[in-house]
Amino acid sequence: MSEAGVDGRPSEAGADGRPSEAGAGGGIGRARRMILIVAHVAVIRTLYRSLRCRGWCIVARGTKLKISRTARIELTPGSRLYLGFGLASFTGSPCYIRLDPGARLSVEGTVQLLRATRIYVAGDARLDIGDGTYLNDSATVVCTGQTRIGRRCAISLNTAILDGNIHELKINGRSRPRVQDIAVGDDVWIGLGATLLPGVKVGDRAVIGAGSVVTSDVPSQAVAAGNPARVIAHDVEWAL
Ligand SMILES: CC(C)(COP(=O)(O)OP(=O)(O)OC[C@H]1O[C@@H](n2cnc3c(N)ncnc32)[C@H](O)[C@@H]1OP(=O)(O)O)[C@@H](O)C(=O)NCCC(=O)NCCS
Repeated sequence: MSEAGVDGRPSEAGADGRPSEAGAGGGIGRARRMILIVAHVAVIRTLYRSLRCRGWCIVARGTKLKISRTARIELTPGSRLYLGFGLASFTGSPCYIRLDPGARLSVEGTVQLLRATRIYVAGDARLDIGDGTYLNDSATVVCTGQTRIGRRCAISLNTAILDGNIHELKINGRSRPRVQDIAVGDDVWIGLGATLLPGVKVGDRAVIGAGSVVTSDVPSQAVAAGNPARVIAHDVEWAL
């Protein structure tokens, strides 16, 4: 994957910060994006984090990292994790990553957590993110168990992925599970403002409609929408 969209500019990238690679301007656009990345890198933190992760963990200036000494960002060899880029951020807030003791954020390939994303991985919990996936402005992941987000996923603005209730909950005297793992397949597009609740599995190439609240599994290549989300179409194809 290219560094496409690290600058998150809708003018050339669409609202999700993913510019088209097509056209003669692709090379110039790529060079420009590289310049923008370099101009916004927090050099010391990038070097420190990259040494600790034994891979490229490229941190934008202003990014807030609260990472316990016993937590780990794991990068498979050759991976690159971009944290906090996105010049066209709507909110202007920084990216915030908090990993509690024993937490793991595991990245395979190139992953972008754009500006204003918020990631919280609780103690001993694990969040895996696959190659080519990006989370856009104000996307939030709260991981208290195990959450896996597959490859090439487009996770839109203001989305939420939450794998636990956080609080103790009893209904009619019966305890409800505190944590239920989430699995998002490859090539999944999660529309603006959608929420994935604990325990859901979203199949490969599925699309989640804007504003949906996903409370049950979504099959591969289905479109699910609404609150609670229901499958409204099958056999979907989508592209950036
Ligand atoms: C889910 C989505 C992809 C469906 O697209 P579509 O098939 O062209 O949708 P249609 O307008 O034909 O709607 C089909 C039906 O689904 C319903 N529907 C569509 N999107 C919905 C949504 N987000 N929530 C609830 N219902 C929805 C429509 O009301 C319609 O219902 P009806 O048949 O009873 O009238 C699209 O509506 C959507 O939500 N896109 C997400 C856009 C987005 O977030 N982009 C991110 C930019 S970064």
